[in-house]
Amino acid sequence: VLSLASATPPEWAARVLTDLDAVLNDHAHLEKKAAGNAVGLIFRYPQHAFLAAPLSRLAREELVHFEQVLERLAERGLALRPLKASPYMGKLRAATRTAEPQRLLDSLLCSALIEARSCERFKVLSEHADDGSLRDFYKGLLASEARHHGAFLTLASQVAPEAEVRARLDALAQHEAQVLAECPAMPRLHA
Ligand SMILES: [Fe+2]
Ligand SMILES: [Fe+2]
Repeated sequence: VLSLASATPPEWAARVLTDLDAVLNDHAHLEKKAAGNAVGLIFRYPQHAFLAAPLSRLAREELVHFEQVLERLAERGLALRPLKASPYMGKLRAATRTAEPQRLLDSLLCSALIEARSCERFKVLSEHADDGSLRDFYKGLLASEARHHGAFLTLASQVAPEAEVRARLDALAQHEAQVLAECPAMPRLHA
C-alpha cells in the first residue's frame, strides 16, 4: 500500500526510543520541512494550477503537526534545536531528474516515499513507545501521513501516464530503501 521497497527492522524502535528527545526534535524539523516542501512546489509551479489547493491543504496539515510536536517538546521541557540537514533527504532527492516534467514527477514521488516512510515509522513508534499518550499521538499522525502519501501519488498521476508513474515509483522506492540502509544510525526518523 505504501510503495516502500523495504521494511523497518525490529531493532530500529529500540534504538531510537533510547533518545526520544532527539527523535522528537528531528520529527519537528521533518514536519516543518514537509510544509516547506509543499509550499515550495506551489511557488515553483505556478503554471500547474492542479497542485495549488491540494499542496496548500497538505502544508497546513504539516504545520499543525509541527505545532503538535513543538507542544510535545515543551511538555518535556525542551525547545526546538537546530539540526543538520538529514542525509536521507539529500541523498533521496539527489535522484530527482533536472528536466521538466521529470523533475516535477520525481519531486512528487520522492515526497510520496518520504510520507510513506514516515507513516511506516510512526506506526512502529505507535506500537513501541513506552508512553501511552505518545503512542496515541503517533497513531493519529500515521493516518495523516498515509493520506499525504496518496495525495502525492494522485498529483503524480496528473503529470505522467500511469505506467510511467508506476515504473518511476518502483525505481525511486528501491533508491529510497538503499539510501535509508546506508544512513548512519542516528536518533532520527529517517536513519
Ligand atoms: Fe506530518
Ligand atoms: Fe505528511
